[in-house]
Amino acid sequence: MASYAEPLPFHPRRDDVSIEGTEGVFLQYLKMYNPHARDVLDLGCGRGILTTAGLKEGLNMVAADIRRGIYQADKSRFFQADARKLPFKRGSFDGVIEFLFLEDLRVLQKVPDETIKTVTAEVHRVLRHGGIFVSRPTHMSEIYTGIGFETMYYGADWGIYRKQ
Ligand SMILES: C[S@@+](CC[C@H](N)C(=O)[O-])C[C@H]1O[C@@H](n2cnc3c(N)ncnc32)[C@H](O)[C@@H]1O
Repeated sequence: MASYAEPLPFHPRRDDVSIEGTEGVFLQYLKMYNPHARDVLDLGCGRGILTTAGLKEGLNMVAADIRRGIYQADKSRFFQADARKLPFKRGSFDGVIEFLFLEDLRVLQKVPDETIKTVTAEVHRVLRHGGIFVSRPTHMSEIYTGIGFETMYYGADWGIYRKQ
């Protein structure tokens, strides 16, 4: 497993990323660690910037957020859902992406670690074996690995975890 002090050597640098911005980083990571990914969940999607970017790349994106009507772009893809109990079957996705959703729970909503664990366990459940979880707050690596994720990469900005 990776140590906190030492990022894995093969992580992409920002300037290696071909698509600009956050959505570019997410897509690059997803392709790098799961080149055959097709079904991807954008958890805590907000207005769905990452969902939109994934759709442009041909991914079958599903957008979920607790707030009804926040994602307007393609309503057929949207699920109003609480991340603590997701309305998806076990092994539904090749990838799950969350951008500042868990940070929002922890910092703004001040939920206890137990809630973060519950959400992470749900992410683990809905991923297929070998599926990739791309997460923005990397300081939660310890929680993720405790749930059954292998750390593929973490840095100051993103963490990549594989379902074992
Ligand atoms: C900071 S926003 C992130 C927005 C989005 N990921 C983006 O890239 O723009 C956090 C989102 O998490 C959603 N959220 C908060 N608690 C949630 C929960 N328990 N389950 C699902 N979504 C939740 C909020 O409604 C909000 O849209």
